[in-house]
Formats: sequence, C-alpha cells, structure tokens
Amino acid sequence: MRRPLVAGNWKMNGSQAESSALIDGLLEGTATVKNADLAVCPPAILIPLVATKLKGTGIAWGGQDLNVNASGAYTGEISGPMLRDFGCTYVIVGHSERRSYYGETDEIVAGKYGAAQQHGLIPILCVGETLEEREAGTTESVVARQLDAVFNKHGIASFAKAVIAYEPVWAIGTGKTATPQQAQDVHAFIRGKLRALDAAVADKVQVLYGGSMKPSNAAELLSQEDIDGGLIGGASLVAEDFLGIGRAAN
Ligand code: PGA
Repeated sequence: MRRPLVAGNWKMNGSQAESSALIDGLLEGTATVKNADLAVCPPAILIPLVATKLKGTGIAWGGQDLNVNASGAYTGEISGPMLRDFGCTYVIVGHSERRSYYGETDEIVAGKYGAAQQHGLIPILCVGETLEEREAGTTESVVARQLDAVFNKHGIASFAKAVIAYEPVWAIGTGKTATPQQAQDVHAFIRGKLRALDAAVADKVQVLYGGSMKPSNAAELLSQEDIDGGLIGGASLVAEDFLGIGRAAN
C-alpha cells in the first residue's frame, strides 16, 4: 500500500504574517488527517519561517525549484544544499510554470532532478500535457518523453527516492479538473512505464495528481488505484481546504 502524500505548492504567494497564520491553521487540524503525509512548498524566502514553525511536527516542507549547481556565481538562484540546510525534504522540479515561463526543457528538468537527489532531497517531478497536446491525442507520448529524459539520465532505480506529479497543464489554476478516469488513465500509463523497467520501484513510487484539486473532488480522485496523493496549488493557501484534501484520503 502506498501512503498518500498531499503536498502544497504555494507558488509566489504569502507574506510572513499570512504564511505564519496558514501554518498555524494546518497545525491545528493536522491530527484530523490520518491517512496521508502532508508537505508544503513555500516560496524560498519563506522557507526559514516555515521550517522554524514546522520543525518537530508531522508536516514536511520543501522548495519549489533549485539550481542544478551546488553553489557559485548564479545570481538569484537557490541550490540543493541550501534547501537541505533549511530542513527541506522535498523540492518540486519541472513544474509546468517553470517549463513554460522559464524555458525549462526536459534536459534541464532531468539535471535538477539529479541535483535534488545528489543533495538528499526528494524531487517531486512534474509531468503533464497542454490542452493542445491532449486534443491532438499526444498526452501519453508527451508524458513518456518527459519521463524518459529522467530515466535516461538517472535510471529507474532513482525513482525509489522520487515522487512523480501528473499535472495536466490545462487543469492547473483553471478550476477545470481532470475527471478521475482521465487522471487514472494517465497515472496507470505512468506506472506501467515504470513497471516495464522495474516492478518493485513501480509499486512503491507515489504518483500525485495536480490541477484544481480541492476538498470537493479529492476523495474521488484519491480513490483511483494509481493516484497516490495530490500536488495542490490554490487550495493549499487555505488551511481548511488543504486539510480537507488530506482528510479525503482517510
Ligand atoms: P492548482 O495548481 O491546484 O492551483 O491547479 C496545482 C499546481 O500547479 O501544482
């Protein structure tokens, strides 16, 4: 049995006061979430605050991105060792917003995935198709290409210490969720791809769904065989909504 993971991607949101209040709200309700692990990925500048508040609690934290290098002249960037230094467990890599707004290619994403693992972080590797790609019937080939870039560089065994998030780009922040069947179909495809390479790893790796997941649709999505949690954007900014998604796994 894979234990679900519900991870919040705060994106570029939150002041110190708002973040502090949000964490307080999560901590108040965390005991009601019995069947899922929780994690939050705040903007880098808020990680110290979040780390201080979450240390010793059951909620993990992570970064939203990292540089492929460990240190050096890379103005504005944050490295894996820095995230580890602040107690991060996870780091998101290859989010579609980074792929589309910052030109991150499959190759760049694969490099970041490797850097995360090299520095003791669990990468949450995001994959997913755009609306045009779905309509053109290329969803599986797009997801396969995104995964192959990582398989080819780091091998299937690396997925023993990674999380995959399937996030159809057309469902992110749009209020348009994939139907449980649409999501399950792609999750099964992803797991099948892993299984063809290593059945034991395929059975273990958590494959999260992301894209307008909220308390009202979470239970149905999470009940699908190959959906092992969620990567939550908008709903992770409201403590009760995020906890509600966690409880949907109970
Ligand atoms: P959303 O974002 O929940 O706001 O759709 C999900 C994500 O981008 O990870």
